[in-house]
Amino acid sequence: MLESDKIWMDGQLIDYQNAKVHVLTHGLHYGTGIFEGIRSYSTTKGHAIFRLDDHIKRLYNSGKAYFMQFEFEPNELKLATIDVVKANKLGDCYIRIIAFYGYGKLGVNPLPNKVSIAITAWKWTEHIRKEDLELGIHLMVSSWEKVGSRSLPTHAKGVANYANSALARMEALKSGFDEAIMLNSNGHVVEASAENIFLVKNGKIYTPPISSGALEGITRDTVIDIAERNNVKVISENISRDELYYFDEIFLTGTASEIVPVGYIDHRMIGNGGIGSITSSIRKQFADVVTGKEKSRQDWLTYL
Ligand SMILES: Cc1ncc(COP(=O)(O)O)c(C=O)c1O
Repeated sequence: MLESDKIWMDGQLIDYQNAKVHVLTHGLHYGTGIFEGIRSYSTTKGHAIFRLDDHIKRLYNSGKAYFMQFEFEPNELKLATIDVVKANKLGDCYIRIIAFYGYGKLGVNPLPNKVSIAITAWKWTEHIRKEDLELGIHLMVSSWEKVGSRSLPTHAKGVANYANSALARMEALKSGFDEAIMLNSNGHVVEASAENIFLVKNGKIYTPPISSGALEGITRDTVIDIAERNNVKVISENISRDELYYFDEIFLTGTASEIVPVGYIDHRMIGNGGIGSITSSIRKQFADVVTGKEKSRQDWLTYL
């Protein structure tokens, strides 16, 4: 990753190299952390962070599941996030906020430990290869079941959930695929290892419901909003594994990956194996929203 200059930790901007935690940090041993991934874009009116308020809201919601007491108000974290991007002289960048139970008592119970928060930002280098954006990436249905809300709070963007994601992603990469799709305990499609999934058939757009265990993605919500502005209602419906193969178009969504077309699932071609017309249109409109060209969604941009 590309190093930056400054990191905000518990109220202070410190040098990148000094942003360290003790090896006995609770979150490191027991996965008791939560985080947000956010993007800042170059827009028509300067740099702006996309849907910062919504990311901060989701961070607090994630913290609630883990009984986290933050020392900072949402607005303080919002201003700190802006400070980090400015202090690093970044424009287009990726921002990561992490909150975790820290050093103190190393039993399973995290509650005696302080909750630390760190905000970092670094120059964005594209997540998924450019050529795949036209060709469509190759997915496999993972042999790992998506962790369900009876095991971990799936509404929370919890660090622990990502051990499950990492296992699925590693399995996919080692098997020669680009990404994994995960099914829940009912055999329904949930999402990819770090992206939501959308599926198109006969001009209609489908996505698994949040109750399937999918993260309530902010890009997912943005895509639903774009579809609705095009008078297309997104149908939230459970989808089985074998149904996956028969959609005209499939795409993944996430802050890091944005809108990624899927070409193949389990070696079966989806549509014509490339980017479909609806995916292409949504991707173009998504780019207009994040770069401020879409005037009706200016309230989603926090200018630096
Ligand atoms: C498991 C999972 N699902 C979905 C998403 C997409 O969420 P968002 O659009 O808010 O980035 C992410 C993003 O990190 C994720 O990790």
